[in-house]
Amino acid sequence: MELIERPRRLRSSAILRAMVRETSIAPASLILPVFIREGLTTPKPVAGMPGVFQHTKDSYKAEIDRALDVGIGGVMVFGIPEKRDPFGSEALNLEGVLSTAIRDARARAGDELVIVADLCLDEFTSHGHCGVLDQNGNVENDATLKIYSEMAKVLAQSGAHMVGTSGMMDGQVGVVRQSLDSIGRSDVLILAYAAKFASAFYGPFRDAVESQLQGNRNTYQQDPGNIKESMREVRLDVSQGADIVMVKPALAYLDVLYAVSQAVDVPTASYIVSGEMAMIEAAAAQGSLERERAILEVLGSVKRAGASVICTYWAIEAAAMLKRNLA
Ligand code: PBG
Repeated sequence: MELIERPRRLRSSAILRAMVRETSIAPASLILPVFIREGLTTPKPVAGMPGVFQHTKDSYKAEIDRALDVGIGGVMVFGIPEKRDPFGSEALNLEGVLSTAIRDARARAGDELVIVADLCLDEFTSHGHCGVLDQNGNVENDATLKIYSEMAKVLAQSGAHMVGTSGMMDGQVGVVRQSLDSIGRSDVLILAYAAKFASAFYGPFRDAVESQLQGNRNTYQQDPGNIKESMREVRLDVSQGADIVMVKPALAYLDVLYAVSQAVDVPTASYIVSGEMAMIEAAAAQGSLERERAILEVLGSVKRAGASVICTYWAIEAAAMLKRNLA
């Protein structure tokens, strides 16, 4: 047998493998989600997510400093308020937990980190839904849009470079774009959670934000079985002014991520969500896999599937690993 093609030749040394590697991860492409809890005096660990905390004002600032030091691209800030109501009013409070946290991050980081603010009501509503409810308890789309439009202004005024529209209301990107432009803030970017699925993998996050949700989000988040629907959501968001489109979760939806990244000419992002992280951490903790290798492999898979931007709770650690040249 005469073998002309021998793929193994390209794998014969570390430097050769590094030379021909098709994907690599830059720390600047990573965004770290951060939780800050109003009124907290000591940081509180989030179950299932080693290294992830509900932060106090001080420990939050320290986390921002670590993000700056290691050179990741950005932070995505989630605020957990002391008081909630059916309308999520605290989301519009310029002195509230989220606005204050955005201001603090911006004061520390300037333009050295992209400060992304979550634009959604679920942390702020007493019923835990991403929008307001009608008399029958259904999430009311257009009434919610009015609040999102105000929230966008508040977040921009607080210093957010980018808002993450994560509520899955129809028309949210268009309304937020218009609202920002109307106050002269055409500079603020929109990270559109375009294809966000009604996923079981958000479990630990809901603990992290002390979600009040009973039931589910199936009337607004996407059905896990669909991909055409994702393409539609993405088309709508791009047409309404999305600067970046996101697919979320990441690992269970790499096919969707790939299809989206091939179809659009804006950058694509993906979010390795809390449950996806918890799954790997749990397996590593029981000795079933090598933790650091698994993390880098998973990040690589998301990159390879087409994500320019990756939201991950491992952002700081991964950036440090990349610097140590573990990849
Ligand atoms: C909703 C929101 C969710 C996440 C981020 N923003 C999900 C939800 O509760 O439906 C989940 C992120 C994660 O699980 O890491 N605003």
